[in-house]
Amino acid sequence: MSKLKNKVAVITGGSAGIGYATAREFIAEGAKVVITGRNQQLIDEAVSKLGSNAIGLRADASKISDTDDLVAQVKSLYGKIDLLIVNAGVALQEQIGEVTEEVFDSLMDINFKGAVFTTEKFIPILNDGASIIHVTSVSAYSYATGTSIYSASKAALTAYSKSASVELSGRKIRVNTVAPAMTDTAMIYKGDLGSEEVHNFLKEKIMPFKRFGKPEEVAKLITFLSSDDASFISGAEYTIDSGASVNAIRI
Ligand SMILES: NC(=O)c1ccc[n+]([C@@H]2O[C@H](COP(=O)([O-])OP(=O)(O)OC[C@H]3O[C@@H](n4cnc5c(N)ncnc54)[C@H](OP(=O)(O)O)[C@@H]3O)[C@@H](O)[C@H]2O)c1
Repeated sequence: MSKLKNKVAVITGGSAGIGYATAREFIAEGAKVVITGRNQQLIDEAVSKLGSNAIGLRADASKISDTDDLVAQVKSLYGKIDLLIVNAGVALQEQIGEVTEEVFDSLMDINFKGAVFTTEKFIPILNDGASIIHVTSVSAYSYATGTSIYSASKAALTAYSKSASVELSGRKIRVNTVAPAMTDTAMIYKGDLGSEEVHNFLKEKIMPFKRFGKPEEVAKLITFLSSDDASFISGAEYTIDSGASVNAIRI
């Protein structure tokens, strides 16, 4: 129960879903946690459930000025931090041939540019030996209807993350990606992938365990990778999908 004792963590998009589950797990393992999001009410509700080891700060990851303010606030609260979970993301869907500039910009601004500049801006206040996790997606490498630009945003983040692992190694900062498949959060009930019919199809035909992941399961992996138990792991990609991306042909 103390894998992350005395560690200070920032989790973007920690007010809901995978980020919230990670905040809960981190606190259970002894960390102090800062969570972010855009919706103040969601942040306040999350912090009241997480308790006194959580602080909520409103910051839109797509706005670099918000990230600058976030870093300044975290620095004045804690000085430096140990764990950075770059998790904030959205999954807007449009079919090829119908992709709009608005959705393209939104996906890239939050999932890629936002994630990159969250990392860049926090680097000066990371302790040597810190851990960064970029939450990507199995979509970076696999097809699902309408997710071309979402997938591209996560593939781009994966490429950035791998370079970061090399360039930050001199400071013993570990950088890894966690790539979930369908995980049961609010995200999967939106857009073309959100209907009961599609969910039933995915569970029956695509997901080997006939179910989606739970945010708590992803949180456990993020916690392991953030802890000293993963002290020799950097530049790695961890899929968490019950084997869905193996794409097995069952006869
Ligand atoms: N659920 C899945 O099946 C799945 C699969 C693969 C990868 N992922 C990835 O996992 C991450 C978390 O997703 P989730 O399923 O937990 O989604 P979620 O339940 O919708 O939660 C998303 C979180 O991110 C925050 N957020 C969204 N846009 C933001 C922005 N511009 N700035 C700051 N915070 C922002 C949300 O709060 P506000 O809306 O209030 O800002 C919320 O706290 C995402 O990067 C997602 O792409 C999810």
